[in-house]
Amino acid sequence: MRRKRVYIETYGCQMNKADSEIIKAVLSASGYSMTAVPERADVILLNTCSVREHAEQRVLGRISQLRQLKLENPGLILGVVGCMAQKMGKELIGEGSGVNLIAGPDSYRRLPGLLETSNNGSSIDLGLDPEEVYSGINPRREDKVKAWVPIMRGCDKFCSYCVVPYLRGRERSRPADEILEEVKALAEQGHKEVTLLGQNVNSYKDGATDFADLLRSIDETTCIQRVRFLTSHPKDMSQKVLHAINESKSLCEHIHLPLQSGSSRILARMNRGYNKEQYLQLIRLIREIIRGVSISTDIIVGFPGETEEDFQETLDVVKEVGFDSAFTYKYSPRKGTRAYEFEDDVPPEEKQERLERLICLQRKISASKNQSLVGSRQEVLIEGRNRKGTTLGRTRTDKPVALQNDSELTPGDIVEVEIIGSTSATLIGCATSPLNHP
Ligand code: SAH
Ligand code: SF4
Ligand code: F3S
Repeated sequence: MRRKRVYIETYGCQMNKADSEIIKAVLSASGYSMTAVPERADVILLNTCSVREHAEQRVLGRISQLRQLKLENPGLILGVVGCMAQKMGKELIGEGSGVNLIAGPDSYRRLPGLLETSNNGSSIDLGLDPEEVYSGINPRREDKVKAWVPIMRGCDKFCSYCVVPYLRGRERSRPADEILEEVKALAEQGHKEVTLLGQNVNSYKDGATDFADLLRSIDETTCIQRVRFLTSHPKDMSQKVLHAINESKSLCEHIHLPLQSGSSRILARMNRGYNKEQYLQLIRLIREIIRGVSISTDIIVGFPGETEEDFQETLDVVKEVGFDSAFTYKYSPRKGTRAYEFEDDVPPEEKQERLERLICLQRKISASKNQSLVGSRQEVLIEGRNRKGTTLGRTRTDKPVALQNDSELTPGDIVEVEIIGSTSATLIGCATSPLNHP
């Protein structure tokens, strides 16, 4: 009998992308093969996100599209997994929905069994497991250069707008020795970069090993060339981590540090656990300790009660910090969170207008940050080519670089590049010498 084929589509954050690699490993071990073509699949899984309403709407639209495939292939199993499955549960399985499997983020080990039972109807598994870190599963990765390595799961921060702690349960860390083994193996297989993942990596803890210790051991005991991590919470970021970055060769000089708002009043309503001054103080410390560091951020506009003055404070902080880049979002009320109880009182047009003003400001800042690098030399890791055939890479500070003289370069090469031009989104460069051509 031929192996059943699974097609997986992933929405949401890097944690979800890493989870899809775990799902692929679990299903491959049970005899499934993977396909990149939904029309050829026996099982379609959507690994979903609920962080904003828009993310959910995209998936609902996709479900109605994909269930049409059942007309041709009545045996097709359509499954929704991940955060939105955890949030909406049975609601997704209703009559005519076409969905016959629902599994939350802690249920992936049980997927093979769930798929078998959904053959004759539907199966649901939404058990959150405070211990599950998917130990012993070797994620099935497609990228040969960069790899995501989850180091913890869940979140205990309960920011008032955020649904993640309800859907992914409490914080728990993977054993440090297992992470080290995984990174060692990745380096030996030829990977050049790992990104350590968690909703709040700074609170990583395995016995006496904290996040800074983990970073140092990865740097000292593996030969991986670049290490990044996501996401840092300003409240838990320690000087010890900053010194580890500064003193370790493989740790890249880039920190993603979500600001969310520049108004201390709004930050308190968001339950972020820091105020504007503390955030700015942390930025100064980061820049003092790590030379040449780049800093990116996440910002929400139009949080309940955000006045024009509050928003101005956000713009002021953005100017004062000068972020290298920012992900910006309109507040989206999420049922079950504390902010859902607040009146969503910033009108949609006002949210849109604030978002545009913020994006416009950030674009100028990013453009001038990039411009200031013209003439400099940067270490660039080659990642691949874009649709036009241009070779693309990234600096240690996580800036995309488009290469001009690129005939010899292949993904995984690390080269020195002279920056000869820039836009707000990309640097343009010429490779000057190969630093490491395997
Ligand atoms: N743990 C990470 C990722 C959280 S989700 C972190 O703390 O950064 C990524 C981003 O989505 C958040 O940083 C926040 O800016 C945004 N976000 C979360 N909930 C949101 C909501 N209800 N509406 C709009 N944006 C939201
Ligand atoms: Fe959500 Fe806050 Fe946790 Fe990030 S730290 S996942 S924003 S609750
Ligand atoms: Fe990630 Fe979305 Fe879940 S941001 S943790 S996939 S709600």
